[in-house]
Amino acid sequence: LRLSLVALVATTFVGFAALPLQPVNAATVAVDGVHPGPLTRTEAFARVEALTKLGREMFVDPSLSASGAQSCSSCHDPKRAFGPPNALAVQLGGPDMDQPGVRAVPSLRYLQAAPSFTEHFYDSEDEGDESVDNGPTGGLTWDGRVDHGSDQAKIPLLSPFEMANTSVDEVATSLSKSSYADEFKAAFGADVFAHPQDAFDAAVEALGTFEQSSADFYPYSSRYDDFLAGKGTLTAQELHGRELFEDPTKGNCNSCHLSEPANDGEPPQFTDYGFLGLGVPRNASIPANADAGYHDLGLCGPQRTDFKDRPEYCGLFRTPTLRNIALRQTFFHNGEFHTLRDVVAFYATRDTDPGRWYPKNPDGSIAQYDDLPKAYWDNLNQDQPFGKQLGDEPGLTEAEIDDVVAFLGTLTDKDQLPNPPDFQKGTK
Ligand code: HEC
Ligand code: HEC
Repeated sequence: LRLSLVALVATTFVGFAALPLQPVNAATVAVDGVHPGPLTRTEAFARVEALTKLGREMFVDPSLSASGAQSCSSCHDPKRAFGPPNALAVQLGGPDMDQPGVRAVPSLRYLQAAPSFTEHFYDSEDEGDESVDNGPTGGLTWDGRVDHGSDQAKIPLLSPFEMANTSVDEVATSLSKSSYADEFKAAFGADVFAHPQDAFDAAVEALGTFEQSSADFYPYSSRYDDFLAGKGTLTAQELHGRELFEDPTKGNCNSCHLSEPANDGEPPQFTDYGFLGLGVPRNASIPANADAGYHDLGLCGPQRTDFKDRPEYCGLFRTPTLRNIALRQTFFHNGEFHTLRDVVAFYATRDTDPGRWYPKNPDGSIAQYDDLPKAYWDNLNQDQPFGKQLGDEPGLTEAEIDDVVAFLGTLTDKDQLPNPPDFQKGTK
């Protein structure tokens, strides 16, 4: 049975096509013996429900970590759109909770529409011109190195600076002692814990299935969704911010962070999942960056290894969704920025006033693009609002920056904690 249960249920109830978080082999992981033969739709739905419930329990269970102190939700806070719970650029993990990560924690919301990673993406939404190659697109993590939520979940469970289990056996043992061990056996077979690899595969399958739950991960419940559906209004400032966000001569933000519903009426995800280089300043607070020779180059490595000989991919990171962005206190792949206003101001003035963002060289000149070796500068995006010269008019005025920030504040889903009080203020 190769049929994906989540895809079946999702297409029945939601109507979306691309579902990278779906379990690859939903019914083949340790399940064959339990459910031989095809499932009816009702059985499939019940199974998705059971795995979603298990995945939800596992997601908040710190006993699945070597420290006993860290669960998925420690880094992916369900009240912050499954993004970071604090303003740290990178979170701590490991057996003694003292090992720093290398990247900012992404939100886990609105990943259901991300296509599987591809180097050549042809968008069916490019009406009349489906032959345009949009380049590298999709996948999970900042560098797109995995495609499925189930495969992704293996990374934190076994990473020495995250949940830090040293083997799948360790995870299986913790699962067998958990409060949901009986539910786990009911779903995956009475002897599942006798086969640690099967238990591990089953666990990541349940986590991947949970990450497909629309109520938890793509509720589309923001004020902007109400507005698009004709059920709510935006203030004059928010509407102006939206105009600037979409104006190709101003913010031009929606050229990457899509803000219009798709042709089939699916609400916008605020990303096209494409890979771009923005030249975000180096973050000195990430311990790995103490080594001047270390660079996180995204798509070309070092976390991702298959494109290490592709210089044209160095410095590119996957465009994140801007839904729930106002809940974050740390921005970009390296968490260098801590207020939304600074992020928008960076877009507006990266090239017109680089001294505002980059440090100085010993000779007093500005160390622009200080986190990317010069050999890769051609990979940096130069489209509006970038691509200007020192001293030019910035892409957005200071007042316009405030309006864009106000618009971004409308993208917060209703079930989330209120925005941090000062999120609109800038520091530079
Ligand atoms: C110590 C903090 C930490 C813990 C614990 C953690 N994660 Fe993450 N997670 C991250 C970071 C950092 C990234 C980005 C990694 C990268 O780009 O290389 C990430 C990425 C992801 C992604 C991809 C998101 C995207 O935008 O494509 C998923 C899905 C995910 N984590 C799920 C989980 C699950 C499930 C667990 C528990 C089994 C978990 N995480 C535990 C820090 C954490
Ligand atoms: C050319 C494509 C492109 C355009 C245009 C663009 N962005 Fe982005 N955006 C990205 C990429 C790629 C990243 C991630 C970069 C990184 O972390 O290195 C990003 C990251 C962000 C983030 C941080 C998200 C997070 O989770 O940390 C915010 C906020 C943001 N963009 C807002 C905007 C706004 C506002 C505009 C318009 C002024 C805009 N973007 C224009 C591609 C784009």
